[in-house]
Amino acid sequence: MSLKNIALCCFALGAVAVASGQQSPPRQEQALVSRTSADAWWKHAVIYEVYPRSFQDSDGDGKGDIKGIESRLDYLKSLGVDAIWITPMYPSPQVDFGYDIADYEAIDPQYGTMGDFDALLKTAKAHGIRVIMDIVLNHTSDQHPWFKESASSKTNPKRDWYIWRDGKDGSYPNNWQSWFGHSAWTPDKTTGQYYYHYFYTQQPDLNWRNPEVRKAMYGVMKFWLDKGIAGFRMDAVSRLFEDPGLHDDPYLPGYNAFGDRNIQHKYTDDLPETHVVFQELRKLADSYPSHPVLIAEADEPTIADLAKMYGTHGDEVQLPMDFQIADLNELSAPKFRKLFQEVETNPADGWPEYFFSNHDQVRQWERYGDGKHNLEIAKLMAVLEMTPRGTPQMYYGEEIGMRTTEPTRKEDVRDPIGITGWPKEKGRDGERTPMQWTPAAPNAGFTTPTATPWLPVPPNARTINVETELADPNSLLNFYKGLLKLRHTETALMFGDYKTLNPDDADVFSFERKVPQGGQGRNIVVAMNMSAAVHTVKFDDVGAKGGVVMQSNYSASGSKVDLGGLELPPFGAVVVAVE
Ligand code: NOJ
Repeated sequence: MSLKNIALCCFALGAVAVASGQQSPPRQEQALVSRTSADAWWKHAVIYEVYPRSFQDSDGDGKGDIKGIESRLDYLKSLGVDAIWITPMYPSPQVDFGYDIADYEAIDPQYGTMGDFDALLKTAKAHGIRVIMDIVLNHTSDQHPWFKESASSKTNPKRDWYIWRDGKDGSYPNNWQSWFGHSAWTPDKTTGQYYYHYFYTQQPDLNWRNPEVRKAMYGVMKFWLDKGIAGFRMDAVSRLFEDPGLHDDPYLPGYNAFGDRNIQHKYTDDLPETHVVFQELRKLADSYPSHPVLIAEADEPTIADLAKMYGTHGDEVQLPMDFQIADLNELSAPKFRKLFQEVETNPADGWPEYFFSNHDQVRQWERYGDGKHNLEIAKLMAVLEMTPRGTPQMYYGEEIGMRTTEPTRKEDVRDPIGITGWPKEKGRDGERTPMQWTPAAPNAGFTTPTATPWLPVPPNARTINVETELADPNSLLNFYKGLLKLRHTETALMFGDYKTLNPDDADVFSFERKVPQGGQGRNIVVAMNMSAAVHTVKFDDVGAKGGVVMQSNYSASGSKVDLGGLELPPFGAVVVAVE
């Protein structure tokens, strides 16, 4: 039996397994998985990003923690989540809220203990939820013992673990800028040299050309994989290497929010050696029979650049996050159609990964809402995230339509870039406010009633919260639940091809997901009106005139539709089973 046929015989079974939250695929699928990654678990998973500081506090210190996450696994399971990506929980001075790591093989006491983490893993497994850790390979905290040693003298054995250079003409070694403002070089009094940091000055970059650094980091990853985690979201990995010749970056017109000249990060991003590291990382992941996934933070300038991350032989990152789609910031049918088509047909034949919100960007409610139809648009965006071919990734609170609540005074800002860049850049606090669970308890149930949450709970938590939305059949939360259920039960959504429909329509983005040959189930047409006007669309290419609504933001499930003339209200979105 060919591999393709093995895949076909598993369609129905695979759908049931994922829907029921089983950790391991059924036997036939297991056989497939062991021979090819064609049906790897991460292709059928819905990933949910947990920002641990803001998700659920269990001990009343106003900051979320591991026990808090564990206590919400029932909720995540009922939502239909298959894997959680937890942003860094390692010991850290918390300058960048965990992205400045001081010890890679421990848990920061503010989040709990290693015992709590092990318990979380165990309970998550019992819920059929995998746990993905965030790993910061590009840099450490300046409080990490490696950096302290490295900074102690020019001859320290760890000196070369970081990027140290002499200044030039009494100033910085070159014009490279930190992503977080100003020079990427900080002078060091002890040795008279400068160290390089792509991000905050407290986040010195590791020297990935040093084999000892590589060995140490792979050891760290093994430590967590051995515990049974399901993979890593790899932070800032396109920045692992810098030009050894220290060429100046070219300037671009204008100035950024920090008052620096705009710059193209030409000599510090996407250097060819990065791919060698990706291959090594992939080998490490593939040495585990559980098929851990590598997800790359990949804010690449084009989808062609993103495609390179899969590797020319599919031997690098399985899921580079698609920032082109996430950051379109405009509800445009032609633009979304083009981007989805590009990633669909990417030269590496890599599996797409979609998201619209995360802990670094204004929430999708504001970025895509028009101020008038925001709920319809939020539901449309949910359809757009959950129905194409690829792995969707959600951000906590997205499912209830959490808003971005920015600080109104500089003195309230917690994220350092909001202080450096105020008032143009207010930082990322706005999208990191505590999860809104219930209207009944103070602090929306995020922490104990008398605690002070690390960021204020937005007043809108009285109406926008899990409990209220669970009780409302038309809520965004129930809309997401319905879509996640479809993703786990419809063969066409799990395994089907993707085909653009009506490619010239200026306002309606539509596509077909077709049950593969030999599979069972219904073909699906997805249509999204990305305009504020009513539109009628005809689907001549789908081989049938009629259909039934599976899910829609304007019509009841089960209603019949005419695919020969489907009328979509402003921002109407519909998932139709073709009949
Ligand atoms: C990307 C992370 O998502 C962001 O939160 C962090 O500040 C930078 N990388 C630096 O680690």
